Amino acid sequence: IRDDEHAASMYVANYVVERIKAFQPTAEHPFVLGLPTGSSPLGVYEILASKYKAGEISFENVVTFNMDEYVGLPRDDPNSYHSFMWKHFFSHVNIHPSNVHILDGNAPNPEAECAAYEDAIKAAGGIDLFLAGIGDDGHIAFNEPGSSLASRTRVKTLAYDTILANSRFFGDDLNRVPRMALTVGVQTILEAREVVVIILGARKALALQKCIEQGVNHMWSLSSLQLHPHPMIVVDEDATLEL
Ligand code: GLP
Repeated sequence: IRDDEHAASMYVANYVVERIKAFQPTAEHPFVLGLPTGSSPLGVYEILASKYKAGEISFENVVTFNMDEYVGLPRDDPNSYHSFMWKHFFSHVNIHPSNVHILDGNAPNPEAECAAYEDAIKAAGGIDLFLAGIGDDGHIAFNEPGSSLASRTRVKTLAYDTILANSRFFGDDLNRVPRMALTVGVQTILEAREVVVIILGARKALALQKCIEQGVNHMWSLSSLQLHPHPMIVVDEDATLEL
């Protein structure tokens, strides 16, 4: 628990830097980092970029896999997760574009795209550290309430609450929010060697309580982290209101 958003973001960014450095990645043996979108990781991305500029960390030998992507938004739409990631992180660090993996929400065969993504994660040797945020309803990636804890990368219909929450990025127009997404599954996340979740603000307080003080429950998909051998949840004070 950290005092505020900045302190929580700083803790996570420092931790990620520490893990990458300890790994001593090379081109043959890169560090594999899972990444989220949303407002919660923005501070982390900003701090990581400034640490790169200060020469404290290199992303030269880091391979990334993003958690999810909307179905049907053009890749260069400002709201696509492709655009989000390049705008807020990748353009500011020395990552090789060929090391960046993001699901293609316009793939002609979405099921094949999801299966290929799982294969690519396996081929990369699995994910060393999956960074994540959560939705107000405790979803992780786009694993909406009710997602199987055994789920893998797949097409998911978004819950009404998610469409409502994310409409703020679409001029508050619910009709502009895509109805579907491609997302890694709960099991895909649980297979990462380490999972770090950043949770900020009172809006997430109920989800945090449900996910860590109650049992594993497929209606609150973050609670699946109770089954993980090496998880860490970093929160600000406001997110602890219900604990
Ligand atoms: C979307 C993303 C999630 C993210 C969530 C919360 O649903 N698919 O990965 O955790 O938004 O976003 P925010 O951090 O803006 O609350």
